[in-house]
Amino acid sequence: MTARIDRVWPEPTENLTDEAIIESLAVSRPTVRVNFVSSVDGSATHEGRSGGLSGPADKRHFELLRRVCDVVLVGAGTVREERYGPMRVRDASARWRVAHGMPPHPVFAIVTGDLDLDPSSPIFSAAPVRPIIITSAQASASAAVESFERVADVIAVGEGRVDLVEALAAIHAAGHSQVLCEGGPTLFGSFLAADLIDELCITIAPTLEAGDGPRISHGGVPAARDMRLGHILRSGDELLLRYLRG
Ligand SMILES: NC(=O)c1ccc[n+]([C@@H]2O[C@H](COP(=O)([O-])OP(=O)(O)OC[C@H]3O[C@@H](n4cnc5c(N)ncnc54)[C@H](OP(=O)(O)O)[C@@H]3O)[C@@H](O)[C@H]2O)c1
Repeated sequence: MTARIDRVWPEPTENLTDEAIIESLAVSRPTVRVNFVSSVDGSATHEGRSGGLSGPADKRHFELLRRVCDVVLVGAGTVREERYGPMRVRDASARWRVAHGMPPHPVFAIVTGDLDLDPSSPIFSAAPVRPIIITSAQASASAAVESFERVADVIAVGEGRVDLVEALAAIHAAGHSQVLCEGGPTLFGSFLAADLIDELCITIAPTLEAGDGPRISHGGVPAARDMRLGHILRSGDELLLRYLRG
């Protein structure tokens, strides 16, 4: 059964349809949207992964975010830890996308400095759309890159680290305007350092984790960025918050 999601603010509305949620997420310009789930006390993981924090409403919302994006961008650490497979949205999402003039599935883009991924994995071999590997010029000069070039488009930007400004420019130049970043914390920190984030969707899972799980972002930023609240959705004890660039 679909998890019920209500809007608390603005315009309180009960039992939102998928269309109503999509409408509330609409944007009219190129956007980098980041999506995370966190425990109430700020842990981004439960037993090392985010899945243990994600309830039915978060899963529904997660899929709707994928439904409306052009590119799902993920750091290699998350791809490894969360054991990502090929980027394939659910059938209902694929139908919605085609009906709205979009390709059935978004492009999967992975940011990696070390190319520490398996080019023979289903991420590539079963991909409905050729994925993108975003790496540094240094890594792209290594022999390892050839096996990725056979299964993905490789974008090399930046010297030691990936230059996310250039990466985003390359994504836009390829015709993709709606970028959904699904983490993880290192990549989010890199995006914040480059001041490239337009919005954050964060689900607050109703648990206290303590432990030493990561926060949703880390790394140095030149200055804290103010965000403004876009909406508050609620499903039982779970909150789904949208924050926009201030
Ligand atoms: N709560 C949530 O919603 C959520 C979401 C996502 C992830 N997580 C959790 O976060 C943990 C993983 O954290 P993480 O920080 O390792 O994840 P991450 O940001 O996905 O991965 C870090 C890796 O991504 C690559 N990377 C990121 N930014 C880069 C840059 N500017 N230049 C070059 N490479 C860059 C590097 O890959 P290489 O090592 O290949 O060079 C780096 O080691 C997991 O436990 C996962 O479950 C939680």
